[in-house]
Amino acid sequence: MSDNFGDGARRCAPDADAKAQVPAASLRLIRPDDWHVHLRDGAMLATAVADSARRFARAIVMPNLDPPVRTVDEALAYRARILSALPAGARFEPLMTLYLTEETRPAEIAQARATGLVHAVKYYPAGATTHAARGVRDLARCYPVLAAMERHDLPLLLHGEVTDPSVDVFDREAMFLERHLSPLMRAFPGLRMVLEHITTRAAVEFVSAAPQTLAATVTAHHLLLDRNALFAGGLRPHHYCLPLLKRAHHRAALVGAATGGNPKFFLGTDSAPHPRHAKESSCGCAGIYTAHAALELYAEVFEKAHALDRLEGFASCYGPDFYRLPRNQDRVTLIKAPWRVPSTITAGTDVLVPLRAGEDIAWQLS
Ligand code: NCD
Ligand code: ZN
Repeated sequence: MSDNFGDGARRCAPDADAKAQVPAASLRLIRPDDWHVHLRDGAMLATAVADSARRFARAIVMPNLDPPVRTVDEALAYRARILSALPAGARFEPLMTLYLTEETRPAEIAQARATGLVHAVKYYPAGATTHAARGVRDLARCYPVLAAMERHDLPLLLHGEVTDPSVDVFDREAMFLERHLSPLMRAFPGLRMVLEHITTRAAVEFVSAAPQTLAATVTAHHLLLDRNALFAGGLRPHHYCLPLLKRAHHRAALVGAATGGNPKFFLGTDSAPHPRHAKESSCGCAGIYTAHAALELYAEVFEKAHALDRLEGFASCYGPDFYRLPRNQDRVTLIKAPWRVPSTITAGTDVLVPLRAGEDIAWQLS
């Protein structure tokens, strides 16, 4: 998989002096896909989709627009808007999802499957995160739809947090496993599910021990940052996302899972752009923008874990295998050469502050 990034080069990586003496390393991978992304709509869409398409061949596109993407017709219309926002010559396949509500009809599932263009249904607990107000209050009311999904083999994607205000915000993912995911897996043993953007050791252990029907995505920011990043020298709204960053030992468990070669864990950036003013606010929005450098950020994590040889499985193989799609045919090359992330990115009429704004990233796409 790797070109000239063998063990010798790996030993040379860490300190700046040593780095200056080694030739640039490179890493060639099957083109990756992003199994969880927010592309938004309108003015912001073109920037988000261009950044994703530069790195990824395909992406599972989240349906939490306002109003959400609840029907097959809405998903196909959104897909067309995404394709028309692509830069000239870019190739990118948006894999569409539906936003689950208590009103979703089982017939919608059959129709979704028949299109071949809708690849999953997303469960947001009502109020759990951005644009989740129209999500599900009582999952039991969705059981007929979940049964249809099980029959048609359409995966369920989970925002895995309880919304019970009496549960501490840092404990909401762990509580979800116990209260909701275990019963769900018992009720629908054939339903394939992805626990999205996992953030805790409990989630790693739960997914590892679960049957093959359950997988998980891991974001770059949850692999790179722990909750101290929210308060480093002051309040850092651009590190605020949901589920929240957790303690360092949780981050270590996520790194172990992502770099450990277990096909149940694969890449999903959860890149979620918000205009700067919506983040730097007295009530700021949750979401971190990473699409501008997503693969490069994951490469940093894998390099630090001495696991660059496992990046291809995580980024390019396990996702398509889970979704029963072919792996991509073409390849991308990453080179070890630092570059400076701009302090802001213009997106239509808005300005975004990306992860690592004004700082360096060690790897870049060639
Ligand atoms: C996402 C968004 O902004 O749409 N925000 C986030 O913090 N991850 C929603 C989500 O995936 O929870
Ligand atoms: Zn998300």
